[in-house]
Amino acid sequence: RTYEIASIPGDGIGVDVTAEARKVLDEAASLHDFRLRWTEFDWSCERYARTGSMMPEDGIARLAGFDGILLGAVGFPGVPDHVSLWGLLIPVRRAFAQYVNLRPVRLLPGTGSVLRGRSAEELEMVIVRENSEGEYSAIGGRHNTGQPSEFVLQESVFTRVGVERIIRYAFELARTRDGRLCSATKSNGLIHSMPYWDEIFAEIAAEYPDVKSEQCHVDALAARMVQHPERLDVIVASNLFGDILSDLAAAVTGGLGMAPSGNINPPGEHPSMFEAVHGSAPDIAGQGIANPVAQVLAGAMMLDHLGETVAAQAVRSAVDAVLEAKEVATPDLGGTATTEQLGTAVTGALLAP
Ligand code: NAI
Ligand code: MG
Repeated sequence: RTYEIASIPGDGIGVDVTAEARKVLDEAASLHDFRLRWTEFDWSCERYARTGSMMPEDGIARLAGFDGILLGAVGFPGVPDHVSLWGLLIPVRRAFAQYVNLRPVRLLPGTGSVLRGRSAEELEMVIVRENSEGEYSAIGGRHNTGQPSEFVLQESVFTRVGVERIIRYAFELARTRDGRLCSATKSNGLIHSMPYWDEIFAEIAAEYPDVKSEQCHVDALAARMVQHPERLDVIVASNLFGDILSDLAAAVTGGLGMAPSGNINPPGEHPSMFEAVHGSAPDIAGQGIANPVAQVLAGAMMLDHLGETVAAQAVRSAVDAVLEAKEVATPDLGGTATTEQLGTAVTGALLAP
């Protein structure tokens, strides 16, 4: 069968790594008897600089019919980051009710992890980040501008529906893994939103007696992630906490160049969007040396979501084989290979079923 996929390469290294991901995914598709039909969109900060908008006005409507979206990264020197976030990423996530941001991490072979020496099995976790509300809210503003009494207010929004659905998703996911779930909050500091989250977590936990659940303060959890990551498996967190924890988890397991993520609409009524955790990396953009692994693994998550789980696993195995061999490695992995060479190596390592 054929899947319709929207590709939004974006800016900087997003363009390079998306090209390599497409190459790997197309080969995996042909080995597993399905097809990906790509439609490319030039929506980006570069487009914003040219036209004044990240995407056309009917952008959301144009994406609506696709089976999946593969996004590179957006961000361009000179264009403020809130433009790319609020002009593209957040509208897509919200319009398509992609309320789960799923960020699986595992210790990849041959990487520069700070935890080198530990075995891959003991280090595998997934962060379930709330992706539609919480601390990332436009409510608030600046007051008494220019006066000594100047101040800003930044509101957070936590709805019962929003909190319940993300926590329930995390419990369901924990059930399919090894039954452990940790909820990250900070109820001693944020005295309205976080106790509310804790309360709902406790209510839902009662429905899942088979899952070993606990509530942690996010600061203590950050320390634990570095010192004892093997004791963690599924972590559920608000939008902001989940964002921070997943970069940390990526760093301890292999680096930002290796971490994928999915913006998921669980009922499948709207397309889900898959992307690397990293950004457009202006410091290395245009040099062709970005590590494409995160984007390739984001592509594997997309295949999983489409139901092509065997092909998805084949992509992950090919990545592992190339990393383990250490013959083709980009500079962040201590090598001298280009983005394209690493993409080609992964493509070549794909095994037929
Ligand atoms: P970044 O992730 O782009 O870069 C952080 C550091 O990691 C840089 O030193 C970079 O060279 C390195 N790095 C990242 N990905 C790499 C890869 N694949 N291979 C090798 N090295 C890699 O984060 P930064 O610098 O904070 O943000 C740069 C721009 O990206 C900003 O405009 C930001 O808004 C945007 N951004 C966009 C995201 C998205 O589109 N979802 C997510 C995060 C940032
Ligand atoms: Mg982030």
